[in-house]
Amino acid sequence: MTDRWTPQSWRSKPAKHVPADYPDAAALERVEAELRRMPPLVFAGEARRLKSLLGDVAAGKAFLLQGGDCAESFKEFAADNIRDTFRLILQMAVVLTFAGGKPVVKVGRMAGQFAKPRSEATETIDGVTLPSYRGDNINGMEFDAASRTPDPERLLKAYGQSAATLNLLRAFAGGGYADLYNIHRWTLGFVADSPLGARYRELSDKITEALTFMAAIGVTPESQPDLHRVEFFTAHEALLLAYEEALTRVDSTSGDWYDVSAHLLWIGERTRQLDGAHVEYMRGIMNPIGLKVGPTVEPDELMRLVDALNPDNEAGRLTLYGRFGADRIAERLPALMQATRANGRQVVWAIDPMHGNTLKANNGYKTRPFDRILSEVRSFIEIAEAEGVHPGGVHLEMTGQNVTECIGGARELTEGELGDRYHTHCDPRLNGEQALELAFLVAERLKTERLSGLQHQAAE
Ligand code: PEP
Ligand code: CO
Repeated sequence: MTDRWTPQSWRSKPAKHVPADYPDAAALERVEAELRRMPPLVFAGEARRLKSLLGDVAAGKAFLLQGGDCAESFKEFAADNIRDTFRLILQMAVVLTFAGGKPVVKVGRMAGQFAKPRSEATETIDGVTLPSYRGDNINGMEFDAASRTPDPERLLKAYGQSAATLNLLRAFAGGGYADLYNIHRWTLGFVADSPLGARYRELSDKITEALTFMAAIGVTPESQPDLHRVEFFTAHEALLLAYEEALTRVDSTSGDWYDVSAHLLWIGERTRQLDGAHVEYMRGIMNPIGLKVGPTVEPDELMRLVDALNPDNEAGRLTLYGRFGADRIAERLPALMQATRANGRQVVWAIDPMHGNTLKANNGYKTRPFDRILSEVRSFIEIAEAEGVHPGGVHLEMTGQNVTECIGGARELTEGELGDRYHTHCDPRLNGEQALELAFLVAERLKTERLSGLQHQAAE
């Protein structure tokens, strides 16, 4: 681990889930060379800004909201999809900001989230075995030999789609679409339509009151252009290291290496081996980074990973996303939080309540029950409070579209309805209503926490 780091040094380490079966190695090299010439998608200064905001999260002064598709795809690529997920994140952020009384750092799992680690390398249907689908930037989902063969041209297409997505996100974030008053008006529509709307009305009425008060004292988007704008960041799993390497550049201001494919990159549960290629690559880039922490991680292993990835103990550099499952979190998380806390490690603790709660419905669909997702988030907040750690944020798979992929929620989506609009290219996502509902339910919890904190201060 002490060996000299370069953007290529991961190549001498064992790499899981990195495709090694491109039929034409020369074609892959040509594409990598082309990617090295492509402009950066994000700037180092923006990544540093996100790192500093995540430093606030680590210090308990802000909350992280990260969400988007499990896997972006070429087929679902459309301006409306991007707009709807962006808008959903902003709506959730307003609710969470108000309830928690803290700024919300908004990060989209967007503009680069294509590659997927798969538990099985191959898939067999009716006696035919083919390589698994690994994301649109590697191969195609159709079950035939040609589309399942890795094609390097897909990397260029994914780069182009990421650039176009980011361009639109930047326009939305800066161009007036993010107007706070509009965002809240959309949420009021959701509350009016939701079967559980009465439960959310109090909170949404209070937000309305706060906005009315602000307007009355002259704080409007016209007088305060900041109310028109939001800071929005992008993130994806850094799985396909050849792609990330090609987009690793020296920042001329600091002389440091940054991965300019996204603001934040994370290491997945299947690729977090201490001596593996992914940890090697990620230790050398200066972006804020994340690490998935699943039910098999032991505290000493976690501490070794934390030290490898954040040797200077810089706040905001490292976000840990627990993903245990609603039934395992209480048994696994406390010791891990105790370890980071007792050792004074400045990390963000967040929860991914999706990946430990996946199951197969009787009709074969991969799904996730809404109540288990909610339960894991609730347990996360309770455990963090008990351990004296800030429950720093949530990382969700969700879409602004009205899909039918996760069961439950206020509309009580059933297994039988999964087939209606099951569009995901990988894991089941919360639909727009389910995601907003989750935001309201988490907000109720954060509000209780904030009020008990205030009472505590008053009593001192
Ligand atoms: C993911 O976030 O899509 C993912 C694969 O998660 P994990 O690495 O936690 O399984
Ligand atoms: Co997923």
